[in-house]
Amino acid sequence: MHELDGKVALVTGAGMGLGQACALTMAEQGARVMVADLNDEAGQETVNTIEQRGGTASFVRVDVADATAVETMVKHTVDTYGRLDSAVNNAGIVGDGAPVANESESNWDLVMSINLKGVFLCCKYQVRQMLEQGGGAIVNMSSVMGLNGNAGGVSYAASKHGVIGITKCVALENAQTSIRVNAICPGIMKTPLVDGLISRSGGAFADYAITSTPMARIGEPEEVARTAAWLCSDAASYITGTALPVDGGFNAQ
Ligand SMILES: NC(=O)c1ccc[n+]([C@@H]2O[C@H](COP(=O)([O-])OP(=O)(O)OC[C@H]3O[C@@H](n4cnc5c(N)ncnc54)[C@H](O)[C@@H]3O)[C@@H](O)[C@H]2O)c1
Repeated sequence: MHELDGKVALVTGAGMGLGQACALTMAEQGARVMVADLNDEAGQETVNTIEQRGGTASFVRVDVADATAVETMVKHTVDTYGRLDSAVNNAGIVGDGAPVANESESNWDLVMSINLKGVFLCCKYQVRQMLEQGGGAIVNMSSVMGLNGNAGGVSYAASKHGVIGITKCVALENAQTSIRVNAICPGIMKTPLVDGLISRSGGAFADYAITSTPMARIGEPEEVARTAAWLCSDAASYITGTALPVDGGFNAQ
């Protein structure tokens, strides 16, 4: 018996990084998984890995900033697997952050459209479906930068603070509808996004990650994935509206 046996899960940004880890873990725990991503090749690879491990998954292409595409993604999940029990709204970008005086409007708009509007749109269409079927669980991917400031990251931090705001509102709206909504706030995790930051900084970002994290290491994607799967499971039945750090102690400082 697995924690997500019989459930249908949808994970955005599931082609790589944290989203891929969430999709693999949720499939291992028994869920049938709709893998959603902008990148067809990466998404299909996640599906192949799940199937090779004996799980069930399909791919749907989505740009989470596009309302029609998000509505279609949810409809496709229900058409394929009959319902939607769990959603991990993970797709996000870091953008090209700069101190506010030099931050471009185009970077602000891009980061907000994917990180913030994307989570709003996903919640909107997922909640519609979950209301119709009588329940579900949503996990939105925020960040420790949703709880703290970050010099040079105004757009990213504002978007991730906003994700927690969306999470709290949607949780309260649905506190009596059997739909639970929570956010995860990862610290610095080993993903292609962070690999890019490390290589662009000539390695300095890896040193920063280790020295700024009380546990003195970069997190593994599975450490976020296990938390997302647990929040989606019935084991977390009394948890809604929370923003949970998974950060090696970063937020305790
Ligand atoms: N890695 C970290 O240290 C870290 C820390 C805190 C929060 N996060 C958040 O976790 C999430 C995943 O981060 P990651 O490090 O795995 O990133 P990543 O760049 O490694 O992977 C992101 C995935 O999302 C997909 N994607 C990007 N834009 C999309 C869009 N518009 N529509 C659909 N899919 C899209 C990409 O194709 C990719 O497969 C992001 O929201 C990020 O802000 C990451």
